[in-house]
Amino acid sequence: MSELFDLDGRVAVVTGGGRGIGRAIAMELANAGAAVVPSARSRAEIESVAADIEDDGGDAIAVPADVTDGDAVSDVIDSATDEFGGIDIVVNNAGFNPDDALGRPETVETESLDQVLDVNLNGAYEVTHAAADHLLESDGGSVINVASVGGLVGLPRQHPYVASKHGLVGLTKSMSLDWAPAVRVNAVAPGYVSTALTADLEDDERLCRSIIDRTPLERFADPEEIAGPVVFLASDAASYVTGSVLAADGGWTAR
Ligand SMILES: NC(=O)c1ccc[n+]([C@@H]2O[C@H](COP(=O)([O-])OP(=O)(O)OC[C@H]3O[C@@H](n4cnc5c(N)ncnc54)[C@H](OP(=O)(O)O)[C@@H]3O)[C@@H](O)[C@H]2O)c1
Repeated sequence: MSELFDLDGRVAVVTGGGRGIGRAIAMELANAGAAVVPSARSRAEIESVAADIEDDGGDAIAVPADVTDGDAVSDVIDSATDEFGGIDIVVNNAGFNPDDALGRPETVETESLDQVLDVNLNGAYEVTHAAADHLLESDGGSVINVASVGGLVGLPRQHPYVASKHGLVGLTKSMSLDWAPAVRVNAVAPGYVSTALTADLEDDERLCRSIIDRTPLERFADPEEIAGPVVFLASDAASYVTGSVLAADGGWTAR
């Protein structure tokens, strides 16, 4: 591996690090040498990720938290610094798109909008804010927000999710200005990735076909294909990259 991508000595907190894209990110950051703190609500899932990292010879501790719970988020940050001495990388990956937030604006309740914004947008801010002092003290501080193509364009019947991801892109750009040159702040915008979040889409043959037909690379991504861009953004290979949104969407937004 090129030294540019080496994360040896860095400490990374990954929210939503128990499954799907977050699990792949946690594993690949560890493969690049970082000590990793996977966090999510399901203790068993993050413990399994931490155990897999340790089995591969890496360092990890699992700390459960709901990103909307300030005390639990503080506990993640404290546990990470107690165990590893600091925090250099925060990956805000926790997110969801619940059924009651899908539909036309006249049918989706404002509570559903609030719920999605709370997790996908406010949760990312909560975690980054809680880690701020440590990031600013780091030599290689980096925040990576996992947005979506829904942070770049509108999607029908998903306005809460789209609003949350556009908000996350806005947060990325503004925070990159406030924290330059100390901490780089970037986002990745995945297209369609095979995870629990998209399982219903993949089960719907007609919908799945229409997504694949619209995607130049003609398939859904594997979670590891989102982890690669995150490792890049976290590493010195991206030392002049801040405030950017890297689309990892198989060409979906190029069309
Ligand atoms: N899959 C896609 O096609 C796709 C495309 C674009 C963007 N994304 C984004 O990628 C991220 C990961 O999605 P995924 O597809 O990997 O979904 P996933 O398999 O459902 O994983 C979501 C992760 O987020 C955690 N999470 C959810 N709500 C949380 C909360 N309130 N507090 C803490 N953790 C929470 C979940 O764990 P617990 O339930 O245990 O808390 C889980 O670890 C999301 O931000 C999503 O919007 C996904």
